[in-house]
Amino acid sequence: MAQQEYIRVPKGLKNVIVDQTRLSGVDPTGQHTIYRGYTIDDIGANASFYEAAHLFLYGHLPCEDELKEIKKKIDYERGNIPEKLFDALKLAPVTHPMYYGSYGVLLLGQYLAPEWDFSDETLYDHALKLIAKLPVIFAAGWHLAHTGTLIRPDPSLDHATDVLRMIIGRMPSKVEARAFESSLVLYMDHGFNASTFTVRVVASTLSDMYSAIAAGIGALKGPLHGGANEKAMVMLLEAKKQAEEKGVPLEEYIVDYIKAKLAKKEKIMGFGHRIYKLHDPRTDVAAKYIKQLKDGEWWLKVLKKAEEVMWQEKKLPANIDFYTAVLYYQLGIPIPMYTPIFAMGRIVGWVSHYIEQVKDNKIIRPTEEYVGPTGLKYKPMHERCKQ
Ligand SMILES: CC(C)(COP(=O)(O)OP(=O)(O)OC[C@H]1O[C@@H](n2cnc3c(N)ncnc32)[C@H](O)[C@@H]1OP(=O)(O)O)[C@@H](O)C(=O)NCCC(=O)NCCS
Repeated sequence: MAQQEYIRVPKGLKNVIVDQTRLSGVDPTGQHTIYRGYTIDDIGANASFYEAAHLFLYGHLPCEDELKEIKKKIDYERGNIPEKLFDALKLAPVTHPMYYGSYGVLLLGQYLAPEWDFSDETLYDHALKLIAKLPVIFAAGWHLAHTGTLIRPDPSLDHATDVLRMIIGRMPSKVEARAFESSLVLYMDHGFNASTFTVRVVASTLSDMYSAIAAGIGALKGPLHGGANEKAMVMLLEAKKQAEEKGVPLEEYIVDYIKAKLAKKEKIMGFGHRIYKLHDPRTDVAAKYIKQLKDGEWWLKVLKKAEEVMWQEKKLPANIDFYTAVLYYQLGIPIPMYTPIFAMGRIVGWVSHYIEQVKDNKIIRPTEEYVGPTGLKYKPMHERCKQ
């Protein structure tokens, strides 16, 4: 039999192109994130959630009728959650809310799609159902666990306003709602990041969309991926507290704080990126909205100072999570909800990648290099466990 040829790739698949996508990526200069041909600066600053979701799913920005249609569908689906799902969330223990997303999505799949097929009708219908319903699962799970109350969706509001209202438990201002909406758009997609790749791996086995999304949520939860926005805010608040105790302004103290952490070989969450080595363009859009919110100018001074010292010490740029951490803090969002919000945006990318994968599928199944022992022989217990 002919010898199989193998290609060895770097650990972590660093710099390995595994497939093509028409959804998003970084342009050849490495400076711009591209959303289906548009720069993220453009879409993040100008597009509504509905417009950006339409762009990802259908490949173009919607015309008036298309916009009306996608808005109607998303708002309807957000308002129609199986009551049994809320009942199940009422029984859930108080844990990190990312768990509510993982099993909430699986339950939703059991209720809404017990059988799966790959027709366009099924794919796009359930893609929109997931985009609309995932935020409700997270917000409901969080409030039920922490206050015992259920804040229901209001389909008469637009998606971002309603989702933010469900999270913070009050009606946001227009400026707050737009800042939040833009952050969802900034999080929507980013090439073959770890959670998206996870979704594509599950899709490639021809499993259903709900199972793939639940797996993606699991991958996003980790602090090296989506969990970084929470860790970044915890760190900034710790620095703030220490600065107050020492009577030094945070925008000065952050320098010593970061240097001390680096000296202890600790990672600074919200810095570094697999793709962006000079600058993450998404931070510019987020900065625009941070400026408009509470203490915006001051927070930007702190962020810029942190970036300066990280560049000086490690040549690492801040990533989107460093900026959204502050933006969500300004909006009064509880820290454990930061990563779920990342998922509420990224769901659009995940379902779009699921569809792209299954429409031109090849199972994703790499090969390992086995480096363990060989030739061992089974021995009965009395022989293998002699004293
Ligand atoms: C995002 C991340 C996982 C990218 O990992 P990566 O592409 O494998 O980059 P590397 O880990 O090879 O980083 C290169 C060097 O910078 C260091 N480094 C990377 N991120 C760092 C950080 N946030 N703080 C301090 N040092 C960092 C690494 O330790 C490594 O140093 P070494 O060469 O001395 O070993 C990594 O930068 C990280 O853990 N960042 C913090 C978590 C985070 O913000 N994640 C959100 C990403 S959007």
